[in-house]
Amino acid sequence: MIYNFDEIISRKGTHSVKWEAGELLKEIGITERFDEDTISLFVADMDFPCPQPVIDALHARVDRLMFGYSTYTTTPDYIEAIQGWFARRHGWDIDADSIVYSPGTVEAINMAVKAYTEPGEGVIIQRPVYSPFTSAITKNQRVVVNNSLRHTDGYYTIDFDDLEAKAKDPNNKLFILCSPHNPVGRVWTPEELVRMAEICLANDVVLVSDEIHGDLVRQDVTHYPICTLVDDDRLIACTATNKTFNMAGLHCSNIVINNKELRTKFTDQIGFKSPTPFAITALIAAYNEGEEWLAQVNEYIDGNLAFLQDFLAEHMPQVKYRIPEGTYIGWMDFSGYGLSPKEVHDRIYNRANVVLEDGKLFGEEGLEFQRICVPSPRPLLRQALERIADQF
Ligand SMILES: Cc1ncc(COP(=O)(O)O)c(C=O)c1O
Repeated sequence: MIYNFDEIISRKGTHSVKWEAGELLKEIGITERFDEDTISLFVADMDFPCPQPVIDALHARVDRLMFGYSTYTTTPDYIEAIQGWFARRHGWDIDADSIVYSPGTVEAINMAVKAYTEPGEGVIIQRPVYSPFTSAITKNQRVVVNNSLRHTDGYYTIDFDDLEAKAKDPNNKLFILCSPHNPVGRVWTPEELVRMAEICLANDVVLVSDEIHGDLVRQDVTHYPICTLVDDDRLIACTATNKTFNMAGLHCSNIVINNKELRTKFTDQIGFKSPTPFAITALIAAYNEGEEWLAQVNEYIDGNLAFLQDFLAEHMPQVKYRIPEGTYIGWMDFSGYGLSPKEVHDRIYNRANVVLEDGKLFGEEGLEFQRICVPSPRPLLRQALERIADQF
């Protein structure tokens, strides 16, 4: 089947946080303006329909008429769909016993913080990074230990000496890795991943790798699940259908925890939770039949990221931007304009009426940046960019 991702489909009336949560966005400080005319490109979900096999399977499930309690542990189809996907796509053989369902990846990260650290202990992250990593640490009374990423010409790398020093500090017990990295778009190389894993393992730091963007990489780039590179059962990885298939509202993450002791500590925190009937049905259809859709969506996203690059080069050459290796996130450096971050914000959010995400939300390192999520029909993306360019 050929999908048409150029089509603009209204999401109004679907309880979409991206398109209908203006009051909330104002309250949490993302924007001051949100009205009928706002173009919203802030949250990491897609304005594209899900794979047709998922839609069909959900229709069929609705026709079964009852939506009672479900379990994913008593019928093998859910687990086998996960195993099949990761074996086929990433060469990763996942042990059935290691899979723990979580209603969300952010929830899983919060549970990992509680399971593997005590209040007052340190958790290493690499800023600028997805802000719920920070809140998972601070809201649980742990301490943020920032192994800040290095940045040269828009390309981010890891300060390994600093990471090692931080891992050696006995107060630091957990490292939350973002792989691929949101927002800087790096897909870490095998060498980088192995080195990070070795540093953590040598210092008894639990490594939780959030890999939920791992299916969304450019055509010439390979994402490596960390567990395929280093054979040590203490490594933990977060997987999900949410980003890959645009199903974040179905709340379906699966955390791979091979080590029994670490798994028990985690499940003690999270308790036994089961996906909703819709999440189970959608996951099975997506992982078993979603590859054709994913190939097309990735090609379209590649096109949008290239379009963004060309648009900026032509109309806003002071913005520094580099096509990310992975994710569908553009990380735009506005420092070339010599304007205050507040002025940049005002021009985009209030005057152009486009909602992105201020880079400072990802840490001080992001102060002069804006994050844009591009998985939207290109005509909509073009319109948003034209409005922004008119203000600069
Ligand atoms: C790196 C990363 N982790 C987790 C999430 C959220 O995942 P979930 O909806 O499963 O909590 C996002 C969403 O943007 C993300 O970018």
